[in-house]
Order: sequence, then structure tokens, then C-alpha cells
Amino acid sequence: SGAGKSTIAKAVEERLFDADVQTMMLDGDNVRHGLSGDLGFTPADRTENIRRVSEVARLFFEQGNVTLCSFVSPYQEDRDDVRDRFLEVHVDCPLQVCKERDTKGLYEKAEAGEITNFTGVSAPYEAPEDPDVVVNTDEMGVEACADQIVEALEARGIV
Ligand code: ADX
Repeated sequence: SGAGKSTIAKAVEERLFDADVQTMMLDGDNVRHGLSGDLGFTPADRTENIRRVSEVARLFFEQGNVTLCSFVSPYQEDRDDVRDRFLEVHVDCPLQVCKERDTKGLYEKAEAGEITNFTGVSAPYEAPEDPDVVVNTDEMGVEACADQIVEALEARGIV
């Protein structure tokens, strides 16, 4: 949380919109209110969350949309299970910087024990072993990150 996933996804979406590419956006913060509203943050619930997201993303993609998915997805195994379906972008940022940003005030709550199973505090984060793209939001601005992702989409002939 706080690495910059949603902000970068929105910047990529804007560029694709300008290039007349149809997009859809799936984001932890919206999906968890509806599609995954019955799920929490245990390992099993996160696995189910990512499974649902990958199925919905595939449906959107089959309808001609480049589907931007911004999720914590902290387990390598969950990502591997859907690996054939997506270009993996690791939005990397040191945990300490995420904590300092604490954009939603969730780290403070997690450290106070008010939120359990919180990624980076009381739940693990397994960084991707072999991502297609890595952007480091501590060192790079949003636009530079978006450039790199759009270039990767172009290199694969997706856009
Ligand atoms: S995932 O692990 O299942 O992929 P997802 O990306 O959908 O997580 O949701 C993460 C968002 O939920 C975070 O950005 C944060 O706003 C919120 N959240 C609430 N509780 C937790 C928690 N225990 N761990 C991580 N994120 C949480």
C-alpha cells in the first residue's frame, strides 16, 4: 500500500486513451467494495481475490480492452497461477518510504494493531521473482514509470 500502483495505472490509462486504445481498470480499492466485498486479507482470501480479478480481466481483454490491474497480490504463487494472462509490473518502493507516505493512514493503524494481516507490517510481501517491468517510485516520477510500461506494451505488440 502506498507504492503508487493506482496512480501509475491511471497515468498509463490516460496515455492509452490518448492513443485510442480501449481500457478497463481493476484496482484493489474498487474491487474490494464489490466483486471481492465478501473477502478479507487472509492468505486464502487474497488468493481468491486475485483469482477473481484474473478471470474478470480475461473477460474484459477478450472484449478488446487492455485491462490495467493494480493489486498488492503479495504471494508469488498467486501471481504464478495467472502468469500466462498478464504482463507483470512490479511497482517497487522501499517499505520505509511507503510508511512515510502512509497515503491512507493504514500503516499507522496496522502498527497500532487496529488492522490485522497488513502487508508490510503483519503480513508478508513476496516481491516478484521475474517481473516483465520494474518501476521504482522512490526514484522515478509517475510519468517516467508510465513511459516504461507503455514501452513494454508496445514491445509486445499489445498496443
Ligand atoms: S490483495 O493482497 O488481495 O491483492 P488488494 O490489492 O485487493 O490486496 O487490496 C489492497 C488494498 O486494501 C490496500 O491498498 C489497502 O487500501 C487495503 N487494505 C485493507 N486492509 C489491508 C491489509 N490487511 N493488507 C493490505 N491491504 C489492506
